[in-house]
Amino acid sequence: TRPHIAVLGSINMDLVAYVAKAPQRGETVTGREFRTLPGGKGANQAVAAARAGATVSMIGAVGNDTFGTQLRSALDHSGVDTDLLRTVEGPSGTAHIVVDDDGGNAIVVIPGANDTLTTLSPGDTAEIASAAALLLQLEIPMEGVLAAAQAARAAGVRTILTPAPARPLPPELLAATDLLLPNEHEAAALTGLPDPADAARALLDQVPEVVVTLGAAGSLYVARGAEPVTVPARRVTAVDTTGAGDTFAGALAVALCEGNYLPQAASWASAASALSVQRPGAAASMPYRTEIDTEAGVTA
Ligand code: RIB
Ligand code: NA
Repeated sequence: TRPHIAVLGSINMDLVAYVAKAPQRGETVTGREFRTLPGGKGANQAVAAARAGATVSMIGAVGNDTFGTQLRSALDHSGVDTDLLRTVEGPSGTAHIVVDDDGGNAIVVIPGANDTLTTLSPGDTAEIASAAALLLQLEIPMEGVLAAAQAARAAGVRTILTPAPARPLPPELLAATDLLLPNEHEAAALTGLPDPADAARALLDQVPEVVVTLGAAGSLYVARGAEPVTVPARRVTAVDTTGAGDTFAGALAVALCEGNYLPQAASWASAASALSVQRPGAAASMPYRTEIDTEAGVTA
């Protein structure tokens, strides 16, 4: 049976400009293409987990604008349960993204409806308690993230936190987190330590397990009382890395809920993110389970 995963987080419409090279301040450049694609770290992780094989329920908010309608139906079409999505007065979240020829990006997020997620409804709490894992990120108010992490902890549900975009984490949040999933920049921002291995070790004072994602260099797993494990990434040519970390998080959660040991789960998740960076868009680029299995060399 498929594991059940709950996600609380942001839902954005990604407004993406594809350009050879991102403009500097005061500069105007002509880009190649514009796309409107569903995104937001929360919604991305929900889609990644659903495509990787979980049943997923998304807790979040969209605005009462056209984007809100489109974002809700994009989640529905990805098989994500949207019963707990609120539609609130005002604009949906948007992300203004410039993707360059190396597949790298720069992003401005306008939170919109995501900013209303400060408290949990009784239905949200019940949903979290029924899940095998809860996925969290930091594109909604900290009060909402904390309330969800604590609800998960109270129910014995595994909490996986992607601390992105980087911001200071209250100790109570780390205390309710089982697995912290920063990228190398977030790990450095959280600890002041530029070396990912040093940063990961320092974070173990506050959470039992840490995976630092290192982009093309793969990921680094550390846990209390265990030797660090480096999980290599596949060598691919990136066209759009937007949402690669979210793909990793969603796939990792599925593999963990299916009982895999963390480094093995990280290897499977890195196959998923390698597939996603070779296609444009965040959620739109996420692979389905059979593709991930093939890429990872898993035989049924
Ligand atoms: O993590 C990628 C996401 O960050 C994008 O989809 C964009 O919406 C921003 O929130
Ligand atoms: Na992509």
